[in-house]
Amino acid sequence: MKFTVAIDGPAAAGKGTIARALAAQFGFGHLDTGLLYRATARRVMEGEEALSAALALQSADLRRDDLRSAEVGQVASRVAAMPKVRTALLDFQKNFARRDGGAVLDGRDIGTVICPDAEVKLFVTATDGVRAARRHAELSRKDAALTVAEVLADLRARDRRDAGRDTAPMSASAEALLLDTSELTIDEAIEMAGAAVIAKL
Ligand code: C5P
Repeated sequence: MKFTVAIDGPAAAGKGTIARALAAQFGFGHLDTGLLYRATARRVMEGEEALSAALALQSADLRRDDLRSAEVGQVASRVAAMPKVRTALLDFQKNFARRDGGAVLDGRDIGTVICPDAEVKLFVTATDGVRAARRHAELSRKDAALTVAEVLADLRARDRRDAGRDTAPMSASAEALLLDTSELTIDEAIEMAGAAVIAKL
């Protein structure tokens, strides 16, 4: 059975949490597509050319434990603006989306470019302040000196680049259900997303 859930939205809005929960609830595969760009960025930071880095990605690259930093995120959003990099990563994502048994993909262009025919499309948002506070709580475990203001500036710079690029900019597909998680608990957000899936199963 082919059944694809496409989840897009800005950084730290809750996409990953919702995607993982839906995958567990419905037994679907999950692909965090941001990891592809982060892993490519990591190789670029080590001196590799961007297209070669994207083409050389192996599953071990996606499991590296140094992909989540703000620095890697910034380089990822620069690398992600390059059409040749996006093209190189396209087939892997499209094939994952068609896997038997269902798939959840989260990213920036899933509902618009990767899976325009997804059965369920969600665009997950939250206010800048809420997103910065959430990401700060996560990153400050490793970097106690990090401030919320720094995290906010980092998220805004990345969102501006992701929404403003020419190729596959972050945007809500016309059919996407908008889910603002600012005032929701994690469980409430997951329940609303789950209801959208159940309605289409
Ligand atoms: O989702 P995450 O913050 O890990 O993504 C890192 C970066 O990868 C984003 O800022 C964006 O530039 C890029 N990205 C993208 N398209 C996707 C997923 C991520 O351009 N589908």
